Amino acid sequence: MAALRRILQLAKPGEAARAQGWVSSVRKMKKWAFADITDGSSVEPLSVILTPDQAAKLSTGACVDIRGQVKESPKGATQAVELHADSVKLLGEADSTYPLQKKYHSREFLRQFPQFRWKTRTAAQVLQYRSFAIKQLTDFFNENDVVQVNSPILTSSDCEGAGEVFGLEKSLDFFGKQAYLSVSSQLHLEVYCAALARVWNMTPAFRAEASDTNRHLSEFWMVEAELAFLDSLAELTGFCEQMVKATTPTGSIKHSILASKRDQEARDRLEQRWDTLAGKWTTMTYTDAVDFINAHGTKVSTAKWGDGLSSEQEKFLAGTLGTPVVVTDYPTEIKPFYMKASSSQTVACFDILIPDVGELVGGSMREDNYEKLLANLEKYDMNPESMSWYTDLRKYGSFPHGGYGLGFERLVMYTCGLDNIRDATGFIRGFGQLPC
Ligand code: 4AD
Ligand code: MG
Repeated sequence: MAALRRILQLAKPGEAARAQGWVSSVRKMKKWAFADITDGSSVEPLSVILTPDQAAKLSTGACVDIRGQVKESPKGATQAVELHADSVKLLGEADSTYPLQKKYHSREFLRQFPQFRWKTRTAAQVLQYRSFAIKQLTDFFNENDVVQVNSPILTSSDCEGAGEVFGLEKSLDFFGKQAYLSVSSQLHLEVYCAALARVWNMTPAFRAEASDTNRHLSEFWMVEAELAFLDSLAELTGFCEQMVKATTPTGSIKHSILASKRDQEARDRLEQRWDTLAGKWTTMTYTDAVDFINAHGTKVSTAKWGDGLSSEQEKFLAGTLGTPVVVTDYPTEIKPFYMKASSSQTVACFDILIPDVGELVGGSMREDNYEKLLANLEKYDMNPESMSWYTDLRKYGSFPHGGYGLGFERLVMYTCGLDNIRDATGFIRGFGQLPC
């Protein structure tokens, strides 16, 4: 068992090799047959040369186990080597009703087949990137002494206080107690942070927003970090910037994402996106962002101080500046109870906005004063008793801290050049969509 990528990259002419995978296309001629075999490990398929007999039962979608000799590919081929089959074992056949055939399938078309859609070599690269990015994030956090922890998915609180929580189906009842699917693990992360000082996790988050857009899912993955002993919001945003930069594709994943694009224009656009993430970022306050939008945004609606920025305004801001934009100090009224004040009307928070997508990250310094936090709970109509497990962190050994959450599928969408967040997640759980 070895990834086909290994044969394509490492096998030398003359060597014996074994290829296990799925047929992405097969051409049967009089004397020879040619099959492309894939296992999602690279965009390029492995070309296999067979006799007509060996190829008799092969068709697109079939699963095969082929042993043979590696030979140099003929001039002009994209791959350095090909496999000349000695033996072919058909592990699983696929008849002509198999919906993916050798032609271009749009991502919309593929979404109709949750059971097959990752089998196209180009779609598989999105999953390869997800895996790469998780490794990069893990390495980044390890290098910075941030401990990976695990937070619960069932919770008794609505972290964001926006009421966009899914309750449990069984009459919203968890053995007699109201339970929700977590919208963010932040509050639980703060508990870990009060013990280990620097923690992170990556967990599913659930939002019952009725948002049928290209950047909203009902279930998505969030990468969250919570850091103690921060001297300023800038320290937190600087750390987050370094984290995001660590996910820029390099090495073979860079090659395969580029190769998964259909034309040079798409490849150029993608590299431009990566350069944007890797380049210089802009930081401005919410107040300056509102002014900027109103001064330059002839095609977007007017921003009104006190309102949240719309996704059009977010995209306009980042798109016009051509950089990721860290927008800080939003109005208190539109932000959750746990944020620390930065003035009488604003909180020490930030959103990271990126071109084409809008909000990628949301974070803040946390209110660490016990009395002020209790007052916030009251103001937001939240029950202080049920939150005592959280407010206790301010009662005993309170500490300056802050954190953030990054929407992982939004990052994948941006980095892989996808237009729709549905193509960045393994199984779509979106507004009204639960296909399997
Ligand atoms: O801005 P949000 O709501 O922040 C929080 O939940 C904080 N408690 C995180 C923290 O400080 N630990 O969500 C964080 C990010 C957003 O910036 C966005 O990228 C993503 O999660 N996100 C979504 N992604 C896909 N579909 C949705 N419905 C999303 N809602 C938020
Ligand atoms: Mg947000």
